[in-house]
Amino acid sequence: MRAANQIVADALDELRAMVSPGVTTADLDATVEARVREAGATPAFKGYRGYPASLCASINHEVVHGIPSPRKLATGDIVSLDVGVLLEGYYGDSALTVAVGTVSSEAQELLRVTQEALEFGIAQTCVGARVSDIGHAIQCHVEAHGFSVVREFVGHGIGTKLHEEPQVPNYGERGHGPRLAEGMVLAIEPMVNIGEPAVDVLDDGWTAVTRDGSLSAHFEHTVAVTSAGPDVLTRQLRDVPVSVSAQAS
Ligand code: MF3
Ligand code: CO
Repeated sequence: MRAANQIVADALDELRAMVSPGVTTADLDATVEARVREAGATPAFKGYRGYPASLCASINHEVVHGIPSPRKLATGDIVSLDVGVLLEGYYGDSALTVAVGTVSSEAQELLRVTQEALEFGIAQTCVGARVSDIGHAIQCHVEAHGFSVVREFVGHGIGTKLHEEPQVPNYGERGHGPRLAEGMVLAIEPMVNIGEPAVDVLDDGWTAVTRDGSLSAHFEHTVAVTSAGPDVLTRQLRDVPVSVSAQAS
């Protein structure tokens, strides 16, 4: 799983560097598919329930599952990039949201808070914790900044299938759901809106958008539960992790 997830991390690292005004999400999709196949892996999303691409690219008020297209990214956009791969029977899955050129200070704050919320969720991913402790930490951080957590999509167990039990909601009270045990691997993926939490799915059957049109961000890591604490299998070498100190409870 570490090998599968490192392919995802490397692909996202390359995509992040490519993002600039004028680049299309179809260009990004072609790049990720080429990189994944060169690495000897298979794109996990292509063909999954009929999804047509290797990348999910969700721009501005698109929340998740945006389909790559010839649309050019423009300065001021934010774009969520979500990549999954299958390598020798095991899945990897990760996402990040990138600013295109200069974006509004509100958009910058949305990206920062969503990434921080993911890190607070990861910090809960320890032997003996309960699944809902993750979502609780995420929701507290997001709502403390006046943003909202999407309810319709959740994180998930991951392994020999892309989506395994348990579901990992990004909200909830502490102390519910399965207890985390050594060797479990979870994809934790907060989706955060500036405005209201409600989302709609467009007529393409995939693209989820905020109902109120507000901006939305998405960050995801695949995390193994180990006796030494959370092991983030999709951590990027050049990742600039937001540092989070102990979360107030
Ligand atoms: N990271 C997302 C998830 O885990 C992406 C799935 S896209 C799909 O659900 F096309 F595969 F559905
Ligand atoms: Co996922």
